[in-house]
Amino acid sequence: MDYKLLKPFPSDFLWGASTSAYQVEGGWNEDGKGPSIVDVRTEFPEGTTDFTVAADHYHRYAEDVELFAELGLKAYRFSIAWTRIQPTGTGSVNRAGADFYHKLIDSLVERGIEPIVTMYHFDLPQALDEQGGWSNPATVNAFADYARILFEEYGDKVRYWLTINEQNMMILHGDAVGTTGTSGVTGKKGVYQQNHYMAVAQARAMALCHEIVPGAKIGPAPNIVSVYPATCAPEDVVAADDWDAVRNLLYLDLAVRGTYHPLAWAYLVERGWQPDIAPGDEETLKAGKPDYIAFNYYSTQTVGASTGDASDLQIRGADQQIVRGEIGLYRAEKNPHLPTNAFGWEIDPVGFRTTLRRVWDRYRLPIIITENGIGAFDKLEDGQVHDQYRIDYYQRHIEQIQYALNDGVGIFGYCPWAAIDVISTHQGCSKRYGFIYVNREEFDLLDLARIKKDSFHWYQGVIKTNGAQLGQ
Ligand code: BG6
Repeated sequence: MDYKLLKPFPSDFLWGASTSAYQVEGGWNEDGKGPSIVDVRTEFPEGTTDFTVAADHYHRYAEDVELFAELGLKAYRFSIAWTRIQPTGTGSVNRAGADFYHKLIDSLVERGIEPIVTMYHFDLPQALDEQGGWSNPATVNAFADYARILFEEYGDKVRYWLTINEQNMMILHGDAVGTTGTSGVTGKKGVYQQNHYMAVAQARAMALCHEIVPGAKIGPAPNIVSVYPATCAPEDVVAADDWDAVRNLLYLDLAVRGTYHPLAWAYLVERGWQPDIAPGDEETLKAGKPDYIAFNYYSTQTVGASTGDASDLQIRGADQQIVRGEIGLYRAEKNPHLPTNAFGWEIDPVGFRTTLRRVWDRYRLPIIITENGIGAFDKLEDGQVHDQYRIDYYQRHIEQIQYALNDGVGIFGYCPWAAIDVISTHQGCSKRYGFIYVNREEFDLLDLARIKKDSFHWYQGVIKTNGAQLGQ
């Protein structure tokens, strides 16, 4: 639907930006921090860096927060490294690690920037992984203890919490996002058991948040896409519904309703991959209620009916946005209407509006976008980065948020990925996302200077005008 006149963004809209601990901080073994599964990873695609230094935010957070304030951010979404707080994932608090986040949060709050804290963004403590990671129900208790520490430690200054970043990507594409770990779970049955434990851990964290910090808000942060049928053939529509259930609704229903989506459950049972559900789990799942839904949006996916043979397994997209096809369920299709970025991810701003509408229609909970952005090989030339492609990308996505707001969708914030250049999950530092350029190469750290990209100045204008000025 089109509108004669679009209503403006709400005056308290949270214009933000995102990062995650291991992708931005560096200081991977400093001040008592223990190793996480990403720290011990030794295999990296050829020519790409590890996460040991990243953007060196651990040492430069004060300078970075100054820049965030200059950008005009109303919110900053970042994650806490579990292994700074509890080096082995259990046990007492590592004071130096906890203090780092006090300093970061205080400096944000002093500048009027709302901290939005992700409790766990891919970096499971290695010590827990060695004991089975998410295949071990003890990790559920460890996560609940960690959650309690965070709420007690920071509850008086953090009002917005996120439980687990992209649980669905860890389950579906752990190899791409680098979270498979070393505990060696094999087979889908084991992976869906991990998913169940994560869902229970998340529910416990949500219930604890409400108990310990009344007034604080907490929600999940999956990666959500609209799934389009390749044609209007009814069989393609069924395939799109099926894949939507397995990729999106399984995770959203568990987080929001505390139940397994019936179609997703039917799929698990059909494959023999349904998890064991321990006595009390159903009650725990239902008792953890989110106050809002956060989701990361990068793309949409297009699928058709399974042909029942190996031709279904033709891959589309790439990385965590990959669509692999599954015999008996769906096949991946190319969407001829959509361009792709340099990494093969389809770009679909209108699909953003569709996705926002669908999530709102189904759950009627306030929504915040915790990631959206474009990875690119930015070039520093004469001290400047002309990333017009990023400006175009954001302009077109923010326009669609405004349409969705006019459609009646309750959206209260937008945190693009990323506030500053971070290390990609598996494609090094040359795949950049930030508004702020970090002067380093894959293996040469140069001076790690911060340089404002063209998109920085553009987003500053967007925030200043509360979304009224999206053009140049
Ligand atoms: C999301 C993750 O899947 O996509 C981020 O939550 C990640 O951690 C982002 O960085 C972009 O993906 P990538 O693989 O290009 O870093």
